[in-house]
Amino acid sequence: MGSNDVRVPLAPAPRFLDLRTASADPAAELRASLAADAPFIAPKFFYDPLGSRLFEAICELPEYPLTRAERRIFERHGEEIATRAGIDRPLVDLGAGNCEKAEQLFRVLAPSQYVAVDIAADFLHECLAALSLRHPGLPMVGLAQDFTFALALPDIVQPGPRTVFYPGSSIGNFAPHDALAFLERMRAACGPGGCVVLGADLVRHKHALDLAYDDPLGVTAAFNLNVLRNVNRCIDADFDVADWRHVAFFDPVTARIEMHVEARCDVAVRWNGGGRRFRATDRIHTENSYKYTLPGLGALLRRAGFGDTWLWTDEEDSFAVALAAA
Ligand SMILES: C[S@@+](CC[C@H](N)C(=O)[O-])C[C@H]1O[C@@H](n2cnc3c(N)ncnc32)[C@H](O)[C@@H]1O
Repeated sequence: MGSNDVRVPLAPAPRFLDLRTASADPAAELRASLAADAPFIAPKFFYDPLGSRLFEAICELPEYPLTRAERRIFERHGEEIATRAGIDRPLVDLGAGNCEKAEQLFRVLAPSQYVAVDIAADFLHECLAALSLRHPGLPMVGLAQDFTFALALPDIVQPGPRTVFYPGSSIGNFAPHDALAFLERMRAACGPGGCVVLGADLVRHKHALDLAYDDPLGVTAAFNLNVLRNVNRCIDADFDVADWRHVAFFDPVTARIEMHVEARCDVAVRWNGGGRRFRATDRIHTENSYKYTLPGLGALLRRAGFGDTWLWTDEEDSFAVALAAA
């Protein structure tokens, strides 16, 4: 090594903890939701390895502008976000996916530790391993966890104040009262002096929203229908994807996108411990994605107990990033 070479101290390889067994039994949850009067499959079941890749493909679609809008907000307002959030803190990324959005903020936030939480353990493991090669000085922790029921941060996560990051429009998957409860848990995870950085998709024209969730190429349809394959694996069911079609629409009354799979014909489906007949046009509800207004988002954060709040939007006011002090 020459005298001018600089040594970058290497952080240890990412630690990875699988905390999924501590949460509810996913097979039991699926059997109950499929047997319900109005059958549904929780959106967390989208994210098998193929589902995680299909979501990445959705983010590339011209009809799905959310990811690009959020990226532009981070590009334009990243420095201000860092000023408000504070630097050199643990960054806890909920539903981290491919970790790309958090990575975009590493430069400005200079986190002391990156903690990626996701239910999709294999995909998270793969993405975190690649990320740690690009950021060898940053300590990283991967937590495979279903945060629907509890948000448990083990001792390996540095104490607060923390920046808790929940980008995309995942907050929209919660019904309003559940979103409130989830935000309260996020606030507790921040610790005193911490904050959340939250992405939220905003209400806009129905036509644009319909297209964002029902693109002509059929990528979102593939993402939605793939949930049936994951269900087959989880509870040994025999859904035939060819018997079902993708349905997605924006309902302006509830301000939410609804996604369903709809039976193309009468079908009987069996799974380990049960089964059900579906008539042609019967639906299984697979996702809600609530859209927000800026006043509605601010009010929700206040009700969850947050203090000072800053909001940034993209140039078309289609997407918002909120930073709220815990
Ligand atoms: C819509 S993707 C967002 C990925 C990334 N944060 C982004 O904004 O592009 C949702 C992510 O949350 C994860 N996820 C969904 N439900 C979850 C749950 N209940 N617990 C933990 N992770 C969950 C999924 O595996 C997926 O990676």
